[in-house]
Amino acid sequence: MNRRLFLEDLTRAAALCAVVPNVWRVTARPRLADDPFALGVASGDPTPTGAVLWTRLAPRPLEPDGGMEGPRTVVAWEVAEDEGFARVVRRGRATAAPELSYSVHADVDGLRPDRWYFYRFSVGGASGATSPVGRVRTTPADGATTPLRFAVASCQHYETGLFTALGHLAREELDLALHLGDYVYEYGPYPNRVRRHAGLEIRTVDDYRRRYAQYKSDPLLQAAHARCPWVVTWDDHEVDNNYAGGEGENEFESQEQMHQRRAAAYQAWWEHQPVRVPRARSWADLTVYRAVRWGGLARFAMLDGRQYRSRQACGGELQTVPCGDWNDPARTMLGAAQERWLDDGLARDGARWHVLGNQVMVAPFDQDPKAPERLDMDQWGGYPAARERLLRTLAGRAAGRAVVLTGDIHSSWVNEVRRGRAAVAAEFVGTSISSGGDGAEKWGAVTDEALAANPHIRWHNARRGYMTCEVTADAWRTDYRLVPYVSRPDAPVATAASFRLAHGRAVIERG
Ligand SMILES: [Fe+2]
Repeated sequence: MNRRLFLEDLTRAAALCAVVPNVWRVTARPRLADDPFALGVASGDPTPTGAVLWTRLAPRPLEPDGGMEGPRTVVAWEVAEDEGFARVVRRGRATAAPELSYSVHADVDGLRPDRWYFYRFSVGGASGATSPVGRVRTTPADGATTPLRFAVASCQHYETGLFTALGHLAREELDLALHLGDYVYEYGPYPNRVRRHAGLEIRTVDDYRRRYAQYKSDPLLQAAHARCPWVVTWDDHEVDNNYAGGEGENEFESQEQMHQRRAAAYQAWWEHQPVRVPRARSWADLTVYRAVRWGGLARFAMLDGRQYRSRQACGGELQTVPCGDWNDPARTMLGAAQERWLDDGLARDGARWHVLGNQVMVAPFDQDPKAPERLDMDQWGGYPAARERLLRTLAGRAAGRAVVLTGDIHSSWVNEVRRGRAAVAAEFVGTSISSGGDGAEKWGAVTDEALAANPHIRWHNARRGYMTCEVTADAWRTDYRLVPYVSRPDAPVATAASFRLAHGRAVIERG
C-alpha cells in the first residue's frame, strides 16, 4: 500500500481501457469511489455446461467489510452470448452476505459446451450499479479433443513489483488461466529489514480480506480475471511462509493460534476466488484439491501441497541429505487421502494429457555439484518417500503423457522428471508475476557447474512473467513469456524460450 497508490492504479486503469476494450467496461456506475464492483469480476472452474462467476461488493475496498454495511444484499447476474447482452441465455440472483464479506459465487449451469459467453453483475436495480463485463467459456464436451491454450501464473507479491505480466496475460488468446498460489503474501510493511517479523504479519480474517481487497484493486489483475476462466490453487503465502499442515513458520505461534490463522486465511481465500470448493464444517479444513477436465484432451489435477504435509525435515531450508527424518516413509506432501484421489483420477480418466497443478518443484536441484546431495527441504526433494509415491503413480498411470506445472520459486525451470533413469513426466516451473522484484537472467545458485551436475534440468531463467501452453492430442508446447523489469510500468513481454513434447514421450525438445 505504501508504494502503489490508488491514484497510480486509476491512471493505469484508464490506459488499460484503451488497450483491452473488451474487459474493462462499466456500463452504469455511480460515483467511482462508491462503485460496489471496485474489485472487478472473475470466473473459474469451468465445466462443459457452466462455470463459477465471482464478485465481491466492496465500494471502499480497504475499509472494514469493503465499505459495505447492513444485511444481505441481492446481486443479479446475467450470462449472454454477446458482449452487448442482447442475447442473454441465463440470469439469476445471488446473495452477498456480511459473514462472507459480501462476496458472490454464482455456479451457473445450463450453458452449451465449448462456447464463449459474457457475464456481468448488477445491484440496486435501475438506479444501481453494473459490474465490468467478464468473458467466460465452457469446456468441450466429454471426449472432445478441441485444442487448448492456457496461461500459468504464480507468486504476485504486490509490494515487490508491478503486475505488468498480468496485463500482458490479459491480452493473450487464452481458454483458461491457472494460478498455482502465492496469490497474496502475508508479510507486514515492505521494504522492511525484519520482513519475517511475525508481529507485523496478517492474522485475522479481516486482515486477510483487506489484503485480498488491496491486491484485487489492481486493474491488471482484474483484467486478467475478466479475460477468461481461472483455475486456482494455493501455496504457502495465502496463509504463512512455509507452513506445513497445522504448523506455522513462527515458533512462538501455538498450534491453536495457527489453526485459527489457517481458518481465517482459508475463509478469505474462498471468499475471493472463483472456485467451486464446498464449504467445510470448519474453514480450517477446506478441501481445495480438485480436477478440471478439458474434454478428453486434458485433465488438470489441482493439488494442495500445504494443508496436509509433514513438517520440513531437519529444520527446513537447504540441507545436505540424508539427515534426520528426511527419508521417513511416513512423511507426506499431499496426505494419504489426496494421494489416493490423485492415483484414482490418473487411473480412471483416459485424458490424452494428465496435468498436475502443483506448488513446489518435483525434480530435485542438487545445489552441491560435488557430492553429497544438498536440497531445499521445502520442495518435493525434501520428501523423498512421498516423491517416490508420486513418481510411481505418474509412471504407472500416465507415463509420457504427464505434465507437472509448478510455481513457488520465482524462477523458470524446465525439468525432465525421472524415476531412476526413466523420464516419466515433463515439469514446467513458472516464474513469479512480481515476487522478488526485477529478477535476473539466472538465480545465483544456478552456476554452469550446478547445471552440469543436474542434467535433467534443461533450462533456467530468473526473470518475471508467466507461461503459455498450447495443447493438442499429439503435441504440447510451452512458451516462457517474460518481462525485463517490474519496478517501473510498461515492460514489454517476449518469449524467452519454447519447449515441445510429443504425446507418449516424456522427452522435452527446445524450440
Ligand atoms: Fe512465492
